[in-house]
Amino acid sequence: MFLKIVLLLIVACFSACFKCEFAETSDKTYFASKEALNWTDAKNACSKAGLELVSILNTKEQTFLETFLREYQLVPADRWSGYWLSGIRYPNGTLYWDKTGTEIGEEVDGWARGEPSNAYQEEHCVELKLDERAKRLGWNDYFCVEERKYLCQTPRKEVPVGQNLNDYSYLTGKIEDLPDVTHVPIINLILEEMSRNQTPFV
Ligand SMILES: *[C@@H]1O[C@H](CO)[C@@H](O)[C@H](O)[C@H]1NC(C)=O
Ligand SMILES: *[C@@H]1O[C@H](CO)[C@@H](O)[C@H](O)[C@H]1NC(C)=O
Repeated sequence: MFLKIVLLLIVACFSACFKCEFAETSDKTYFASKEALNWTDAKNACSKAGLELVSILNTKEQTFLETFLREYQLVPADRWSGYWLSGIRYPNGTLYWDKTGTEIGEEVDGWARGEPSNAYQEEHCVELKLDERAKRLGWNDYFCVEERKYLCQTPRKEVPVGQNLNDYSYLTGKIEDLPDVTHVPIINLILEEMSRNQTPFV
Protein backbone atom coordinates (compact mmCIF):
# COMPACT_ATOMS: atom_id res chain seq x y z
CA MET A 1 0.00 0.00 0.00
CA PHE A 2 2.67 2.45 1.09
CA LEU A 3 4.81 1.51 -1.89
CA LYS A 4 1.86 2.10 -4.20
CA ILE A 5 1.32 5.60 -2.84
CA VAL A 6 4.99 6.42 -3.19
CA LEU A 7 4.98 5.13 -6.75
CA LEU A 8 1.88 7.14 -7.56
CA LEU A 9 3.50 10.25 -6.12
CA ILE A 10 6.62 9.70 -8.18
CA VAL A 11 4.61 9.22 -11.35
CA ALA A 12 2.41 12.24 -10.60
CA CYS A 13 5.40 14.42 -9.86
CA PHE A 14 7.30 13.26 -12.91
CA SER A 15 4.44 13.89 -15.31
CA ALA A 16 3.66 17.23 -13.67
CA CYS A 17 7.28 18.38 -14.03
CA PHE A 18 7.43 17.07 -17.52
CA LYS A 19 4.24 18.83 -18.51
CA CYS A 20 5.54 22.20 -17.52
CA GLU A 21 8.14 22.03 -20.24
CA PHE A 22 6.79 19.79 -22.96
CA ALA A 23 3.41 19.20 -24.52
CA GLU A 24 2.00 15.97 -23.17
CA THR A 25 2.36 13.24 -25.75
CA SER A 26 2.94 9.54 -25.61
CA ASP A 27 5.44 9.73 -28.43
CA LYS A 28 8.75 8.31 -27.31
CA THR A 29 10.86 10.03 -29.92
CA TYR A 30 9.74 13.64 -30.18
CA PHE A 31 8.88 16.29 -27.60
CA ALA A 32 7.46 19.74 -28.30
CA SER A 33 8.26 22.46 -25.81
CA LYS A 34 5.62 24.72 -24.37
CA GLU A 35 8.01 27.57 -23.70
CA ALA A 36 9.82 29.70 -26.22
CA LEU A 37 13.58 30.21 -25.89
CA ASN A 38 16.42 31.47 -28.04
CA TRP A 39 18.32 28.77 -29.94
CA THR A 40 21.17 28.18 -27.48
CA ASP A 41 18.82 28.09 -24.50
CA ALA A 42 16.57 25.67 -26.41
CA LYS A 43 19.55 23.42 -27.11
CA ASN A 44 20.45 23.47 -23.41
CA ALA A 45 16.86 22.81 -22.34
CA CYS A 46 16.70 19.66 -24.49
CA SER A 47 20.01 18.54 -23.14
CA LYS A 48 18.91 19.14 -19.53
CA ALA A 49 15.95 16.82 -20.19
CA GLY A 50 18.31 14.15 -21.52
CA LEU A 51 17.28 14.95 -25.11
CA GLU A 52 18.67 16.80 -28.10
CA LEU A 53 17.26 19.30 -30.59
CA VAL A 54 15.64 17.56 -33.55
CA SER A 55 17.64 17.00 -36.70
CA ILE A 56 16.10 15.74 -39.91
CA LEU A 57 18.47 13.56 -41.87
CA ASN A 58 16.19 11.90 -44.40
CA THR A 59 12.67 11.81 -45.84
CA LYS A 60 11.53 9.19 -43.39
CA GLU A 61 12.41 11.40 -40.43
CA GLN A 62 10.74 14.42 -42.03
CA THR A 63 7.54 12.42 -42.52
CA PHE A 64 7.74 10.93 -39.03
CA LEU A 65 8.09 14.38 -37.47
CA GLU A 66 5.22 15.86 -39.47
CA THR A 67 3.00 12.92 -38.50
CA PHE A 68 3.89 13.49 -34.86
CA LEU A 69 3.02 17.19 -35.02
CA ARG A 70 -0.28 16.54 -36.75
CA GLU A 71 -1.25 13.73 -34.41
CA TYR A 72 -0.84 15.95 -31.36
CA GLN A 73 -2.17 19.09 -33.06
CA LEU A 74 1.15 20.82 -32.65
CA VAL A 75 1.54 22.06 -36.21
CA PRO A 76 2.65 25.73 -36.16
CA ALA A 77 -0.45 27.93 -36.55
CA ASP A 78 1.28 30.53 -38.69
CA ARG A 79 4.71 31.37 -39.96
CA TRP A 80 5.66 33.21 -36.80
CA SER A 81 5.17 30.20 -34.56
CA GLY A 82 7.82 27.79 -35.77
CA TYR A 83 9.97 25.46 -33.70
CA TRP A 84 13.74 25.48 -33.36
CA LEU A 85 15.51 22.49 -34.87
CA SER A 86 19.17 21.62 -34.36
CA GLY A 87 20.33 23.18 -37.63
CA ILE A 88 22.84 26.03 -37.58
CA ARG A 89 25.11 27.86 -39.98
CA TYR A 90 28.71 27.19 -39.07
CA PRO A 91 31.25 30.03 -38.98
CA ASN A 92 32.41 29.01 -42.48
CA GLY A 93 28.90 29.44 -43.84
CA THR A 94 27.90 25.79 -44.26
CA LEU A 95 24.63 24.67 -42.68
CA TYR A 96 24.86 21.60 -40.45
CA TRP A 97 22.59 19.66 -38.18
CA ASP A 98 24.41 20.36 -34.94
CA LYS A 99 25.79 17.28 -33.25
CA THR A 100 25.27 14.81 -36.10
CA GLY A 101 27.51 17.00 -38.23
CA THR A 102 25.43 16.17 -41.27
CA GLU A 103 25.19 18.89 -43.86
CA ILE A 104 21.60 20.15 -44.00
CA GLY A 105 19.72 18.96 -47.04
CA GLU A 106 22.19 16.20 -47.82
CA GLU A 107 19.47 13.56 -48.15
CA VAL A 108 16.23 15.49 -47.88
CA ASP A 109 15.57 19.06 -48.96
CA GLY A 110 12.97 20.39 -46.55
CA TRP A 111 13.58 24.12 -47.03
CA ALA A 112 10.53 26.34 -47.23
CA ARG A 113 10.23 28.34 -50.44
CA GLY A 114 12.98 30.91 -50.87
CA GLU A 115 14.93 29.64 -47.87
CA PRO A 116 17.62 29.73 -46.57
CA SER A 117 17.80 33.47 -47.12
CA ASN A 118 20.22 34.51 -44.36
CA ALA A 119 18.66 37.94 -44.02
CA TYR A 120 21.09 40.59 -42.76
CA GLN A 121 23.66 37.74 -42.72
CA GLU A 122 22.29 37.04 -39.27
CA GLU A 123 19.96 34.09 -39.70
CA HIS A 124 22.07 31.20 -38.50
CA CYS A 125 19.55 28.90 -36.83
CA VAL A 126 17.01 26.63 -38.46
CA GLU A 127 13.35 26.50 -37.49
CA LEU A 128 10.50 24.35 -38.70
CA LYS A 129 7.77 26.72 -39.80
CA LEU A 130 4.53 26.77 -41.71
CA ASP A 131 5.15 27.63 -45.34
CA GLU A 132 1.81 29.37 -45.82
CA ARG A 133 1.96 29.70 -49.57
CA ALA A 134 3.01 26.09 -50.13
CA LYS A 135 0.69 24.91 -47.31
CA ARG A 136 3.27 22.61 -45.84
CA LEU A 137 5.93 22.60 -43.18
CA GLY A 138 9.38 23.72 -44.19
CA TRP A 139 12.74 24.75 -42.77
CA ASN A 140 13.69 28.38 -42.45
CA ASP A 141 16.90 30.05 -41.32
CA TYR A 142 16.11 32.62 -38.66
CA PHE A 143 17.66 34.87 -36.02
CA CYS A 144 19.08 32.69 -33.22
CA VAL A 145 18.44 35.38 -30.62
CA GLU A 146 14.67 35.19 -31.18
CA GLU A 147 12.57 33.04 -28.90
CA ARG A 148 10.83 30.06 -30.42
CA LYS A 149 9.28 26.88 -29.12
CA TYR A 150 11.55 23.95 -29.89
CA LEU A 151 11.49 20.28 -30.72
CA CYS A 152 13.60 17.74 -28.85
CA GLN A 153 14.17 14.10 -29.66
CA THR A 154 15.66 11.16 -27.83
CA PRO A 155 19.42 11.29 -28.44
CA ARG A 156 20.64 9.49 -31.53
CA LYS A 157 22.72 6.45 -30.75
CA GLU A 158 24.60 6.37 -33.99
CA VAL A 159 25.55 9.60 -35.67
CA PRO A 160 28.09 10.53 -38.29
CA VAL A 161 31.27 12.06 -36.94
CA GLY A 162 30.01 15.16 -35.16
CA GLN A 163 31.09 18.71 -35.97
CA ASN A 164 29.95 19.72 -32.52
CA LEU A 165 31.13 23.26 -31.83
CA ASN A 166 32.48 24.35 -28.48
CA ASP A 167 31.60 27.97 -28.86
CA TYR A 168 28.16 29.05 -30.05
CA SER A 169 28.51 32.72 -29.15
CA TYR A 170 28.95 33.78 -32.80
CA LEU A 171 25.29 32.87 -33.37
CA THR A 172 24.18 36.19 -31.92
CA GLY A 173 25.78 38.24 -34.68
CA LYS A 174 26.88 38.51 -38.27
CA ILE A 175 29.16 35.99 -39.88
CA GLU A 176 31.61 37.88 -42.09
CA ASP A 177 32.85 36.71 -45.47
CA LEU A 178 30.05 34.27 -46.07
CA PRO A 179 29.81 32.70 -49.47
CA ASP A 180 27.14 34.37 -51.61
CA VAL A 181 23.67 32.92 -51.23
CA THR A 182 23.02 33.33 -54.91
CA HIS A 183 20.14 30.91 -55.35
CA VAL A 184 17.72 32.98 -53.26
CA PRO A 185 15.75 35.37 -55.46
CA ILE A 186 16.11 38.97 -54.36
CA ILE A 187 12.31 39.29 -54.15
CA ASN A 188 12.32 36.92 -51.17
CA LEU A 189 14.76 39.12 -49.33
CA ILE A 190 12.58 42.15 -50.07
CA LEU A 191 9.42 40.36 -48.89
CA GLU A 192 11.17 39.23 -45.74
CA GLU A 193 12.39 42.75 -45.10
CA MET A 194 8.86 44.12 -45.59
CA SER A 195 7.21 41.64 -43.27
CA ARG A 196 9.94 42.24 -40.73
CA ASN A 197 9.30 45.98 -40.76
CA GLN A 198 5.57 45.49 -40.32
CA THR A 199 5.92 43.16 -37.36
CA PRO A 200 9.13 43.92 -35.56
CA PHE A 201 10.37 41.39 -33.01
CA VAL A 202 8.57 38.39 -34.50
C1 LIG B 1 33.05 24.07 -42.51
O1 LIG B 1 33.40 23.71 -41.19
C2 LIG B 1 33.22 22.33 -40.88
C3 LIG B 1 33.50 22.17 -39.39
O2 LIG B 1 34.73 22.65 -39.03
C4 LIG B 1 34.10 21.48 -41.78
O3 LIG B 1 33.95 20.13 -41.47
C5 LIG B 1 33.71 21.74 -43.22
O4 LIG B 1 34.54 21.01 -44.09
C6 LIG B 1 33.79 23.22 -43.55
N1 LIG B 1 33.19 23.41 -44.85
C7 LIG B 1 33.74 24.19 -45.77
C8 LIG B 1 33.01 24.29 -47.06
O5 LIG B 1 34.79 24.79 -45.57
C1 LIG C 1 20.23 33.12 -25.32
O1 LIG C 1 20.01 33.70 -24.07
C2 LIG C 1 21.06 33.45 -23.15
C3 LIG C 1 20.62 34.03 -21.81
O2 LIG C 1 19.43 33.40 -21.40
C4 LIG C 1 22.34 34.10 -23.65
O3 LIG C 1 23.40 33.79 -22.79
C5 LIG C 1 22.66 33.55 -25.04
O4 LIG C 1 23.77 34.24 -25.59
C6 LIG C 1 21.47 33.73 -25.96
N1 LIG C 1 21.76 33.08 -27.22
C7 LIG C 1 21.47 33.64 -28.38
C8 LIG C 1 21.80 32.86 -29.62
O5 LIG C 1 20.93 34.72 -28.46
